[in-house]
Amino acid sequence: MSAGQAQPALVCRSLTKRFGDTVAVDDLSFDVRAGTVTAFVGANGAGKTTTMRMLVGLVAPTSGHASVLGRPYRALARPRDIVGAMLEGPGAHPAHRARTHLTITATAAGIPTARVAEVLELVGLADHAHRRVGTFSTGMRQRLALAAALLGDPAVLILDEPSNGLDPPGIAWMRNLLRSLAGEGRAVLVSSHLLPELAEVADRVVIMDRGRLVADAPLDELLAGRSRVAELRCADPAAVVEAISHTGLAAAQLEGDLVVIEGLSAQEAGELVSSVGAGPVHHLVERRGTFEDIYFDLAATGGGGA
Ligand SMILES: Nc1ncnc2c1ncn2[C@@H]1O[C@H](COP(=O)(O)OP(=O)(O)OP(=O)(O)O)[C@@H](O)[C@H]1O
Ligand SMILES: [Mg+2]
Repeated sequence: MSAGQAQPALVCRSLTKRFGDTVAVDDLSFDVRAGTVTAFVGANGAGKTTTMRMLVGLVAPTSGHASVLGRPYRALARPRDIVGAMLEGPGAHPAHRARTHLTITATAAGIPTARVAEVLELVGLADHAHRRVGTFSTGMRQRLALAAALLGDPAVLILDEPSNGLDPPGIAWMRNLLRSLAGEGRAVLVSSHLLPELAEVADRVVIMDRGRLVADAPLDELLAGRSRVAELRCADPAAVVEAISHTGLAAAQLEGDLVVIEGLSAQEAGELVSSVGAGPVHHLVERRGTFEDIYFDLAATGGGGA
């Protein structure tokens, strides 16, 4: 495995894909570098799968181009040795045993079949290698698809919602695996609409909304400058909002008596409630602006990132 440090491992330049009247991907440009996990985030229909399919030559762009280690995927001599992809779509034949499926896949790609046992071990399926794929749970199928992606020991991984169907320990396992794959110098592009799931592993975040890029930045940068938010319920929420309106801070009364105040700690918010006699307080928490807030803000404004 080797991944050039100088050039990005994956490059999308002005990628556009139209399906009839639908613009699935609209002038999208971003890079994925070796040794990093790039989270590829967006709501259902944002264009993530279509982009990934263009990256591996399964869908032809309407315009723009994509390249892997400097070349279009289709120009790679032994693509499976360079790119491991896990995409939506038909998986293994249900009557095949897991080991057989991987052996056939390896043989077709010219990969030594000794690698099959290694990848089964890597994805935690060694004990199920003899089972027919048709009897697998969703999570086991995901692991098998990941095993197939890892067969060629590729420098680049393109994983479309790999945590779908995994249970909480499976999701934690996936996170660790993504980290260690990037730690070995691989470029990992991983999509999800479950944002907190990727927030813990992502070095960089690319956010799409309705085909367009809305953010492309290191996670730290997206999270930096997010102010803290105090959230409370009390006897007289309107009095709290009124008091805040004179301070230059932003506050809003949400469903029922829930009040959200930007820029105050829990303690400060508690003190404010007592000072205006709006108590008692039933609920009081402080949180930082989260990955999820960023996503919704960006999606709502249709941009602002990059
Ligand atoms: N083969 C196709 N023919 C027509 N329209 C398509 C096709 N593939 C995707 N689309 C449309 O392109 C848009 C983007 O779809 P895509 O599957 O790329 O989104 P996604 O971000 O992967 O969504 P999800 O989170 O649901 O997987 C959607 O409007 C979808 O209906
Ligand atoms: Mg998708």
